[in-house]
Amino acid sequence: MSRQPSLSQRANKRLNLPPLHTYVPPLQPFYDSELYPDGIINLSTAENSLLSGRLIEHLSRPITIRPQHLKYRHTLLLTTLPTVEELLPQYINDHFNPLVPVNRKNSVAGPGIGAVLAQLIWALADEGAGVLLTAPFYDDYVRDIVHPTMATVVLARPPADINPLSKDVLSHLETKILESADQGVKITVLLLCNPHNPLAQVVPQDVLEGYALLAEKHNLHLVVDEVFGLSTFDSAYPPAVNAKFKSILSYDLHALGVNPSRVHVLAGPTKDFGASGFKLGLLVSPSNLPLINLLRPLFNATPISAATDLLFARVLADKPFVAQFLVDNSAALGAAYELVAGWMTFHGLPFVRANAGVYVVVDLAPFIARIADASDGDTAKLDRAVVAMLAEKVFLKPTTLMADPIPTRFRFVFTQARPTMELALRRIERAFGAPLAPFSDV
Ligand SMILES: Cc1ncc(COP(=O)(O)O)c(C=O)c1O
Repeated sequence: MSRQPSLSQRANKRLNLPPLHTYVPPLQPFYDSELYPDGIINLSTAENSLLSGRLIEHLSRPITIRPQHLKYRHTLLLTTLPTVEELLPQYINDHFNPLVPVNRKNSVAGPGIGAVLAQLIWALADEGAGVLLTAPFYDDYVRDIVHPTMATVVLARPPADINPLSKDVLSHLETKILESADQGVKITVLLLCNPHNPLAQVVPQDVLEGYALLAEKHNLHLVVDEVFGLSTFDSAYPPAVNAKFKSILSYDLHALGVNPSRVHVLAGPTKDFGASGFKLGLLVSPSNLPLINLLRPLFNATPISAATDLLFARVLADKPFVAQFLVDNSAALGAAYELVAGWMTFHGLPFVRANAGVYVVVDLAPFIARIADASDGDTAKLDRAVVAMLAEKVFLKPTTLMADPIPTRFRFVFTQARPTMELALRRIERAFGAPLAPFSDV
């Protein structure tokens, strides 16, 4: 037999990377009250089931499939049928108050935020160039930054006593830009998630403006991921700085002294609708049409599926449904957060107060102390906690994977249906031998 053909040098570089210390649940179906009640409840993935029934009802209404839906995307787009290509920009115009109206020319739609970000990074950064974020950060960005570009993730790591969503972080970012250049990794892109993942808070406008001014000063691109922009909520446990979400698309960047061609926004409805599996995302860059025109044809190979388009275009076109859904989702998020926040308060578990997103960062140190050995180091403690929870069939992801400086914290997704959440909370209590919190009080 002939020799095995080799992979690209790029692929080999990847293959030879040491495996990360990561946390994954065993390979078996996740919990479902009907399909698999013995399964592990997955509280690690940013999915939102709170209003799934209502969306499923809308999606399940009889629908007319036309021959164009069976053809290539190009054919579907050249019809008068409603498509997400037209409706996603409208969604942004309706809810993000952009200074420059978003349209099909200054935006590009693709199969999910991750897919769009990967293409965007390819266009903005060369192999080895740096993409700078503040820790803790949403760790799946690594995939989108490294593949396909082979750009480098660079983290500004402010000390644990600094709020990473405050202006205090800006000097740490600037130091990192300079240090990184000295070490041969030139930062090209600043990437910020607002509202933040994993910290689940809206980033205040003055902080975001600080990022934009830093990008201007060092001639960087600023990418703002606003996928959770409309998944914000009020609750009895608000953050000390309880900012309202305001898209950077609504800022007057010229007046701020920032060239708007360096600011690019990712957004879309799938997080708000608990429908990440539909894979829809939009890149908006109103002042950088060459970038948008460069990227648009790249999605011909991996376009949005016509099935997603058909079903979700009908949802987005139903504006009263969308408006009511967003209001009700916000209320449901607030109530679901309060259940978990009350439970954490009962147990004396410190947590980062949230006003956006579908998760909360919680410090399980008081629980871990119940089961850890005195000789355990940080990783051993975390391993022990994850194993204890898996034994009780619940999975939470440690935020050390997201470069969190506090080594005992987890990102706790709270948006499963209420009976599932209550079951999960009981399982966690059992895992650590903790008393049962009274749900009626929380
Ligand atoms: C902040 C953030 N950006 C992007 C994504 C990926 O979105 P998509 O599923 O549309 O690729 C996620 C998914 O959890 C996310 O939390």
